[in-house]
Amino acid sequence: MNKPGEAVLASVVEPRPDGEKLLLKVRMIGLCGSDLNSFRGKNPMVTFPRIPGHEVAATIVDGSQTSAALGAGVNVTVSPYTSCGRCASCLRGRSNACQCNETLGVQRDGALTEYILMPAEKLYPADLTFQELCLVEPLTVGFRAVSRGRVTRQDTVAVFGCGGVGLGVIAASSFAGARTIGIDIDEAKLAVARKAGAGFTINTRTESLHDRLGQLTHGRGPDVVMEAVGLPQTFRAAVEEVAFTGRVVYIGYAKEPVAYETRLFVQKELDVLGSRNATPEDFRQVIRMLEGGVFPVADAVSAVVPIEDAPRLLQAWSENPGSYTKIMVRVN
Ligand SMILES: NC(=O)c1ccc[n+]([C@@H]2O[C@H](COP(=O)([O-])OP(=O)(O)OC[C@H]3O[C@@H](n4cnc5c(N)ncnc54)[C@H](O)[C@@H]3O)[C@@H](O)[C@H]2O)c1
Ligand SMILES: [Zn+2]
Ligand SMILES: [Zn+2]
Repeated sequence: MNKPGEAVLASVVEPRPDGEKLLLKVRMIGLCGSDLNSFRGKNPMVTFPRIPGHEVAATIVDGSQTSAALGAGVNVTVSPYTSCGRCASCLRGRSNACQCNETLGVQRDGALTEYILMPAEKLYPADLTFQELCLVEPLTVGFRAVSRGRVTRQDTVAVFGCGGVGLGVIAASSFAGARTIGIDIDEAKLAVARKAGAGFTINTRTESLHDRLGQLTHGRGPDVVMEAVGLPQTFRAAVEEVAFTGRVVYIGYAKEPVAYETRLFVQKELDVLGSRNATPEDFRQVIRMLEGGVFPVADAVSAVVPIEDAPRLLQAWSENPGSYTKIMVRVN
């Protein structure tokens, strides 16, 4: 991406293994809403020019000298984050929220190239297809949120937003054994949410959110509410609808300030939590789930295109944002 709205295929210098990092042949890259935002110049963390790509399927070219699991020819996915080891988050063992994090394709060049170099500790080998490997990172965000919300099989969990991120929350919540309710305004998204593990869905375009949640929870409200939309009204609805002494987990980035009735935080004695990116354990859990074959992979992918078509697809997506959710780009 040379500048907002301009993506081209270009030649770059082939990376050379330097002894510390492993050389990977990139196979497929998933593009999500954040890549679309970058292309449109709407992501303040992106500077140009920038190679996108943080949802990665790759094959190890030269194996690791020290780890048998990372041999030549092994397929892996990649954690696209970095951590500094010195900030408050890192010192508390929560490097997923590192203050100095640089995500592939955002603050540094990403993986939508033929070869990349990655440190061994960022690699996750898995017996999955390339599409599944690309889905690991977007799904980990939901697993992190479920871990932040301390979700158990006793809980009823309501999830606002059944897009790329919300689907991961729904899959993680049902994987944890919780009764899971998907909420969206788009019937097609709700249909995929049911396949991903939502036992119940609510379309707030056509149904009363409060009445339906009441029916499903003996009038008490959900034990945990997750916000994966990023709008003021869903941020507010989360604290309004959650049960007394419940937990609210915010994943969406609201693009404007949100005004609250803060009395509810106190009166309900709520845990209000943020959830960001994902930990190594979340990567391992998503891989276990995908290896179990319970996630509707085909429904979560809207198009698979060769790399030559990636600039055209980004343009088409930008002109009509509702037309795709996830695009996968075949590299080699
Ligand atoms: N915390 C993190 O680590 C993290 C990581 C990635 C993305 N995000 C954020 O998560 C949010 C969701 O990202 P995404 O990629 O899933 O977006 P998306 O556009 O794919 O999904 C959003 C979904 O919300 C639905 N929606 C819109 N208005 C709604 C409403 N009023 N009520 C219910 N549903 C509604 C849409 O129909 C869509 O299905 C964004 O704010 C994004 O910035 C956070
Ligand atoms: Zn993504
Ligand atoms: Zn840090």
